[in-house]
Amino acid sequence: METMTVAVAGGTGVVGARTVEALRRAGQEAVVLSRSEGTDLLAAARDTGEAHRLARTLEGCAAVVDVTSVTTMGGAASTRFFEAVTTALLTAERAAGVTHHVALSIVGAAAAPYAYYAGKAAQERLVMASGDSWSLLRATQFHEFASQLAARSRGRVKPVPAVRSQPVAAAEVGARLAQLATGEPVGLSRDLGGPKVEDMPTLVRRYLAATGSRARVFAVPLPGRWGRALRDGTLLPGPDAQLGTQTFDDWLATVSRTP
Ligand SMILES: NC(=O)c1ccc[n+]([C@@H]2O[C@H](COP(=O)([O-])OP(=O)(O)OC[C@H]3O[C@@H](n4cnc5c(N)ncnc54)[C@H](OP(=O)(O)O)[C@@H]3O)[C@@H](O)[C@H]2O)c1
Repeated sequence: METMTVAVAGGTGVVGARTVEALRRAGQEAVVLSRSEGTDLLAAARDTGEAHRLARTLEGCAAVVDVTSVTTMGGAASTRFFEAVTTALLTAERAAGVTHHVALSIVGAAAAPYAYYAGKAAQERLVMASGDSWSLLRATQFHEFASQLAARSRGRVKPVPAVRSQPVAAAEVGARLAQLATGEPVGLSRDLGGPKVEDMPTLVRRYLAATGSRARVFAVPLPGRWGRALRDGTLLPGPDAQLGTQTFDDWLATVSRTP
């Protein structure tokens, strides 16, 4: 089989690094686009010179996987980020002749387009309107999201939003994205979730205990429509979803073994 080159925007992030690993394991080439690797996609969105540089970087790539993210709960900031990055990537892909854009979204984001999810819903709309050379995967929260939430506040008492979730291993999401990127565009793919419904504050509590932290967690039911969607099962995958096999406990065992 001929080696493919796939660009991974956000390839240094939680799921991005696993996507790059999965591509390389399968014998493909991965090009990482992130600020720490010298590519600022927001700069490419506002500056013509940077946009040309991005298009040149993408020349010869068979596909681009977008797993960038921004740390914000604000709907306007999230929408600005995902619209700018998606537009910059799609424009550069067209200029470079890349024929497959693979985007990662979140199960339930389009049904509850508020706060951070407003940006994900905007990203989904842009990708779906971009022609017929895209694949879109919606995944549930990663097991690693418990550690991301734990890291968001420094204190000994950590507020964690009340979320009902069916979390999935980022490694399984990365493997699925690598599989999508090396195939033909499929449009909207089957949702990907984990094996078991869990409660996010409990997962953060268990993550902290397993990693030796004595910090305490309290569950915060977020107000408004977004808060309700986080609690009422909107984020759970439907009956025809594909389910990963690694449970949160399996994942936690790997984390607590890491020194
Ligand atoms: N976390 C979850 O539970 C979860 C669940 C389902 C779907 N998702 C989706 O998966 C995607 C990735 O999430 P994640 O948690 O893996 O993200 P993450 O760990 O926060 O990583 C974000 C990545 O984006 C890059 N990035 C940020 N701003 C950039 C810019 N201006 N230009 C270029 N690269 C930039 C970062 O690298 P630099 O900092 O070096 O630029 C990093 O590689 C997001 O779209 C998210 O909505 C996440």
